[in-house]
Amino acid sequence: MKPNMKPEARDNVNHEVMRASTHSLTRTSTHSLTRTSMHSLIRTSMHSLIRTSMHSLIRAEVCTVPMRGIAQASKRTTAFASLLTATLTLAAAPTVTEAAGLSSPVFVGDRVNGRGLYMTACASCHGETGDGGASKIALTRSGRMGLLSDAAMFAMISTGEGLKKPAEHRFGDRLEYLETFDVIAYVRAGTMSVGEFFPEAARYLGKEYTIDEFGLTRIKEATGKALSPEEAQASVFTMFRIEGEDGNLRYVPQDPIQLDALKKDLKIGYLVFLPFRVGPFSGEIGVAMDAAGVITGLRAQDGHAQDAVELNKKLAQFVGMGKKGQRDRFKAPARTSVEVSNAVFQSYMQAMESATMYDREEKDRTWAD
Ligand code: HEC
Repeated sequence: MKPNMKPEARDNVNHEVMRASTHSLTRTSTHSLTRTSMHSLIRTSMHSLIRTSMHSLIRAEVCTVPMRGIAQASKRTTAFASLLTATLTLAAAPTVTEAAGLSSPVFVGDRVNGRGLYMTACASCHGETGDGGASKIALTRSGRMGLLSDAAMFAMISTGEGLKKPAEHRFGDRLEYLETFDVIAYVRAGTMSVGEFFPEAARYLGKEYTIDEFGLTRIKEATGKALSPEEAQASVFTMFRIEGEDGNLRYVPQDPIQLDALKKDLKIGYLVFLPFRVGPFSGEIGVAMDAAGVITGLRAQDGHAQDAVELNKKLAQFVGMGKKGQRDRFKAPARTSVEVSNAVFQSYMQAMESATMYDREEKDRTWAD
């Protein structure tokens, strides 16, 4: 794969291809299909096609087709393009619901196959659980992973593009094209996705912010805890809704013209992922807030599913609490301990102050509007 386009640009082209070919199917006839039936349909009917007859074609052509767009595809790729379109029609469908928030992968990888490949190719450095292992580079942080599109991750894995030490990767000659997507699917499965918190959103921005000294002081006054420099950083995903495009979630790169199109009144909220520890639970929490800072979703994920299930029942009770400028601790809801409530308040304050950093930037960007 010759990465001759910025990952974001590639994504958008991929997306256009995907939308054009799949949108009507996705929105209408497949609506009645459940995720599971859709999945098995794709896996059974398409898998052998993808894995066998298309394999050589894919190796040869697929890298260029989605990048240049089908419209510009050469004569030789036209036949392939229709085959690809047929495949995309099915293969891409679940991305709208299942992997929404991950910038439109052309292929939805097979995470079960990806697990084996991950264990062989990646675990030695990133750890068996992806928590960082020998390299100390964790692949389990939802905020960080959410900033990497599938295209960007693909490039990192296959060529090392975008990494400081590209030589560690360059798996292009060891992992097949589709295998790389399988690994990506496996890595993604260990994180929470942006789309699951805002099913109605149509666009989102993602960027890492550092809470400024005013925010840090407010957090300390409210919670009694001073944040370390590392804790003061978080990825903020800002979500936008567009009339008629509910759920057609697309990532918008930090490009002045594209940012300009995201008017403030389209903003429906923010999502921030933070490390979270309380009782037996140690993992991450996703804090979703509306534009006024009211909690609209609060969920935890970790490897110990049982802990997360119990915890998530408690976390759901915080929906509706909070507002921008919140300073008072939350009152623990029924059946929820003060310990959990205080931990949620701490995370909420960090999330809200991180979102405030986004707002400040937005204000600078739109002062002339
Ligand atoms: C030889 C050790 C090594 C192996 C094997 C390895 N990685 Fe990495 N990986 C690293 C290091 C070191 C970094 C971060 C340093 C850098 O930017 O170059 C990294 C960074 C990454 C990142 C970016 C993380 C971020 O937060 O930016 C991803 C994604 C990733 N690796 C995925 C994989 C996958 C998937 C595999 C297996 C196919 C893999 N790596 C195999 C060492 C390795």
